[in-house]
Amino acid sequence: MAEKIAVLSQKGGTGKTTTVRHLADAFRRAGLRVLAVDLDPQGNLSDYFDVPPDAEPTIGDVLTGRAKAPAAVHDDIIPANLGLAEAELTLAGKMGRELTLRKALKAVEGDFDVVLVDCPPNLGLLTVNALVAADHALLSAEAQYFALQGVEQALEVIELARDGLNPDLEWLGVVFNIADMRTKHSREAFDSLKEHVGEKLLPTYVRQSIAYAESAERAVSILDHRPDLGVDYLRLADELLRRLGLDAARRKLKPLLAEAEERAAKAAAPAG
Ligand SMILES: Nc1ncnc2c1ncn2[C@@H]1O[C@H](COP(=O)(O)OP(=O)(O)O)[C@@H](O)[C@H]1O
Ligand SMILES: [Mg+2]
Repeated sequence: MAEKIAVLSQKGGTGKTTTVRHLADAFRRAGLRVLAVDLDPQGNLSDYFDVPPDAEPTIGDVLTGRAKAPAAVHDDIIPANLGLAEAELTLAGKMGRELTLRKALKAVEGDFDVVLVDCPPNLGLLTVNALVAADHALLSAEAQYFALQGVEQALEVIELARDGLNPDLEWLGVVFNIADMRTKHSREAFDSLKEHVGEKLLPTYVRQSIAYAESAERAVSILDHRPDLGVDYLRLADELLRRLGLDAARRKLKPLLAEAEERAAKAAAPAG
C-alpha cells in the first residue's frame, strides 16, 4: 500500500507546490512509483508538471462523483483546475464530506508506492480531505518570523483530523522553505522553529532562488534546470525516505545525491 503524504500550510506562497513537484521527481528517480495529486483549484502543480490545461477528468470530477480516480490519472498526476473550487462547494453540503478523497484514492493507491497531495493555500475542507486521506502530514513553512505561527495553525488542523477521522495520521515534519540563510532573519526563524518543534524540523532546508520561478515557468524540474540547487530537494527526499523507512529507495537515491553534492560543492567553490 502506498504511503500517502499531504503537503500543507496555512497559506499560499510557502513552497508547497514546488515541494510536491520535486519530491515526486526525487522519489521517482529513487525508483518509486509516485502519484501526485493536485488539490488546489489554481492548478499550479498540474501546470508545473505540464499537464494540458484541458485534461479531463480532474480531481474536481472525482470528488463530486462524476469520475472515478483511475480515469483521472494522467501521467501519474491527478490534475486540478478551477472546477475544483465549485466541487469544494458541492462537497461542503454532503454527508461524509471529509472522507471523499480518502475513499476515492482507494481505487488507485495500490498502483503506487507514494501518493503526494498538494493542498490549497488554506486549512479548509480540501486540506481536511487530504489529511483524512493521508498517512503523513508534511508542513511547508516559509522562512519568515511568522513561520512558527503558521506551523501552529496547521498543527491544530492535523490534531482535528487525528481526533476525529484519522487517528493514525502522523506528522512527518516541517520543511523550512524558500530560505535565505545569509540573512539573520532566516537564521533566527529557523532557530525559533527548531526550538519549538525540535526534530520535526527537517535539518535540510530549501534555499531561495529565482531559478525556481524559471523552473515553474518552463515546467522543468529544478533537478534538471539547476542541479546545484536541486541538491536541496535530493537531501530532503533522502531524509524523508529515512523517516518513512523506505530504505531500498534511499539506497537507490544515494549515488544521485552524492553526485549532486559533488557538483554543488564545485559550483560553490571560488573560481581559479
Ligand atoms: N526555493 C525557492 N526559492 C525561490 N522561490 C521559490 C522557491 N520555492 C518556490 N518558490 C516560488 O515561490 C512561489 C510560491 O511557491 P509555491 O510552491 O507555488 O507555494 P504554495 O504552493 O505554497 O503556494 C512560486 O512563485 C514559486 O516559484
Ligand atoms: Mg500551491
